[in-house]
Amino acid sequence: MPKILFIGDVVAEPGRRTLATVLPQLRDEHEPDFVVVNGENAAGGMGINPKTADEIFELGVDAITLGNHTYRHREIYSYLDGGKPIIRCANQHESNPGRGHVIVENGVGLRLGVINLIGQFGLDHEGNPWDCADRILRQIEKDCDLILVDMHAELTSEKVTTGWYLDGRRPSSAPTRTCRPPTPAYCQVEPPTSPTSE
Ligand SMILES: [Fe+2]
Repeated sequence: MPKILFIGDVVAEPGRRTLATVLPQLRDEHEPDFVVVNGENAAGGMGINPKTADEIFELGVDAITLGNHTYRHREIYSYLDGGKPIIRCANQHESNPGRGHVIVENGVGLRLGVINLIGQFGLDHEGNPWDCADRILRQIEKDCDLILVDMHAELTSEKVTTGWYLDGRRPSSAPTRTCRPPTPAYCQVEPPTSPTSE
């Protein structure tokens, strides 16, 4: 069974420093096939910029997901369109910089699709995240061995129901909103879909 290490969210310089410290240890311990990081607050605790994104990629991270603070720093706009595996929430306006999904391949040819969604409660969004996920899945499923969904939402209920909605489509996972902890601790592991939340 392939392993995905998902870390988020990485907040500001202390978060980046901690990531650099613990990632080698986690790689040794768990030998993940892919490492994905939510970096939406990597720059100064809100948003991300090219420098901090590069710093995360230099650690060997396969993909970066984002959230409601994606567009806090203007200099990231062109970076999001630059072809690197950094994605913004797919159900934001289609004219926004960046894209909402990416497929990455590891050294042994395993292909991971990563989809970033944003919840509808309390966050700016453009359309139903489930409809959006359906559209993307139809597009990429055949090209992926496994799929990770980062559901960036305020409510635990939105995250968990998204996990249930996507259950059985493909081995996948549905985490976050990680930038603040408004929800009770909740963890559910129900193969093949594994929703997790803070
Ligand atoms: Fe957020």
